[in-house]
Amino acid sequence: MQHIKNVNNEVTLMVDGVSVTVPEGTLIIDAAKKVGVQIPVLCYHPDLAVRATCRVCLVEIKGQKKLKTACSNEVWEGAEIITNSKVVRDTRKTVLELILASHPQDCLQCIRSGNCELQQLATTFGIGKPVFESAINGEKKLPIDKGNPSIVRDANKCIKCGRCVAVCQEIQGVGAINTANRSREYEISTAYDKKLEGSPCVFCGQCIAVCPVGALYEKNNTDEVWEALDDEEKHVIVQVAPAVRVALGEEFGMERGSISTGKMVTALRRLGFDKVFDTNFAADVTIMEEGNELLGRIQHHGVLPLITSCSPGWVNFVETFYPELLSHVSTCKSPQQIFGALAKTYYAQKAGISPDKIFVVSIMPCTAKKYESSRREMNGSGYRDVDIVVTTRELARMIKEAGIEFRALEDESFDDPMGISTGAGAIFGTTGGVMEAALRTVYEMVTGQELKQLDFKMVRGLAGIKDAEIDLNGLKVKVAVANGLKNARLLMEKIKAGECNYTFIEIMGCLGGCIGGGGQPITSQAGAKGNRMEGLYQIDRDSVIRQSHKNPAVIKLYEDFLGKPLSPKSHSLLHTHYLARKK
Ligand code: SF4
Ligand code: SF4
Ligand code: SF4
Ligand code: FES
Repeated sequence: MQHIKNVNNEVTLMVDGVSVTVPEGTLIIDAAKKVGVQIPVLCYHPDLAVRATCRVCLVEIKGQKKLKTACSNEVWEGAEIITNSKVVRDTRKTVLELILASHPQDCLQCIRSGNCELQQLATTFGIGKPVFESAINGEKKLPIDKGNPSIVRDANKCIKCGRCVAVCQEIQGVGAINTANRSREYEISTAYDKKLEGSPCVFCGQCIAVCPVGALYEKNNTDEVWEALDDEEKHVIVQVAPAVRVALGEEFGMERGSISTGKMVTALRRLGFDKVFDTNFAADVTIMEEGNELLGRIQHHGVLPLITSCSPGWVNFVETFYPELLSHVSTCKSPQQIFGALAKTYYAQKAGISPDKIFVVSIMPCTAKKYESSRREMNGSGYRDVDIVVTTRELARMIKEAGIEFRALEDESFDDPMGISTGAGAIFGTTGGVMEAALRTVYEMVTGQELKQLDFKMVRGLAGIKDAEIDLNGLKVKVAVANGLKNARLLMEKIKAGECNYTFIEIMGCLGGCIGGGGQPITSQAGAKGNRMEGLYQIDRDSVIRQSHKNPAVIKLYEDFLGKPLSPKSHSLLHTHYLARKK
């Protein structure tokens, strides 16, 4: 069929009898959305390349015999699309019934119940009991892979949509999971069918974030937290990462990107934590250590570019794929681990509590943080620095389980001293934020002058790679920022080829940085990362102090305990080393 183009590169068509004009190249699902019609999808995800494998989105087109997939076909001038005929409804229902025929329907025990795209569609289409004989009847249940600290993979629930494969390959460039076999044998698998622990998986959790069902999910550590909270012998303290406070509200029906810091602190106190502290404080300490490491390397001709180390998915990636570049990675621990080491030394001393009684819980937007806290090197305090990590989603489940009405809570503030932070600490949660926070401090360290304009807008935004040249009063510093591991790979290849003249590079493993972490509330709506990012910049704008080295609690930490950045004490508590990992 020949499609007519109009001069404005727009096309006008009919969707269910309603006229709509959209840009050329618009997909049928997006044109339908413009007239208020939500076509069901399962394999389609707005952040990923289209695969069109599930056939749930079929629509009828006037004049054509075959139904078409709305997620993979573009509209054209004069098209007449019917999304709601009997044949369309019946076909979609049959497609869903076939998927459900080989799906264990144990929604009551399933972690995704209530937020499962398959369950929602089954409800919408009124599918109760499976009409087709179950393909899994009599078949052996596949083993559930839970042999790592971060991610559980239950292939029994996989509907083979391919979203996880796409994100792992296209966005992360890791390729830990792939498709295998054809036809009825088609499945999602790791190489040689190994467990994730034995694969190149970096535990970023991006596959969880796109999985429409309960086939991939975070390792649940909420029971350990409840147990610690019930133990009167333990002094249980909690730290919350910057990106959690701009996403947690989504789990309670608040608008995307809403800032819920005060309610979150109140909820944590109601859950029974003895002290509620802030990872943003530790982010400010990170800047003191990493900023000085950068200056030292510049002044003493050390290995450059220096690359940030706060994102554990990224650290796993460089250890696995680029071990020869490990000397570029900052030895500074991540804010989560800096907090843990200081909690069991500095805070223990200050509060007069034996460190073996202190139990540190982290609330993180990230599944790789669970792995990071379990690393043998993360015991600078002489104890395991962080005892348990739960994700934003797990915290939301705990709040719901406790019957706390999150939206009705009054705002409370973090505890002193590890709850005092700056706007620079807050923006650690977004791509470009660590770089901007570092520049705000390094500028003043190098020049001895006050930085008048604190916003470094050239490193902001959701582009995969950003770069800029910063003038530190005559000292020109080229910097780059990458988010998503495929983008990190591009920069690593440049360094390997000797084509890189950057001095400092920030890398975050997930697209958008921690705001898009694998432990954040799951949404397949486009735009969530932008809203959460805006929330963090709002917190920064509203902060009284916006530079890490001006944080009074950090100044006191160095005066009373650490001495100065990169001191022997700082080195033993706040710095680490890396290990080459097998692919
Ligand atoms: S994945 Fe969805 S449909 Fe399947 S058991 Fe879990 S909630 Fe139910
Ligand atoms: S956690 Fe990350 S690296 Fe591992 S399989 Fe999922 S997307 Fe791939
Ligand atoms: S694990 Fe999830 S995302 Fe991956 S193919 Fe199966 S259902 Fe799709
Ligand atoms: S959503 Fe269109 S084919 Fe799967």
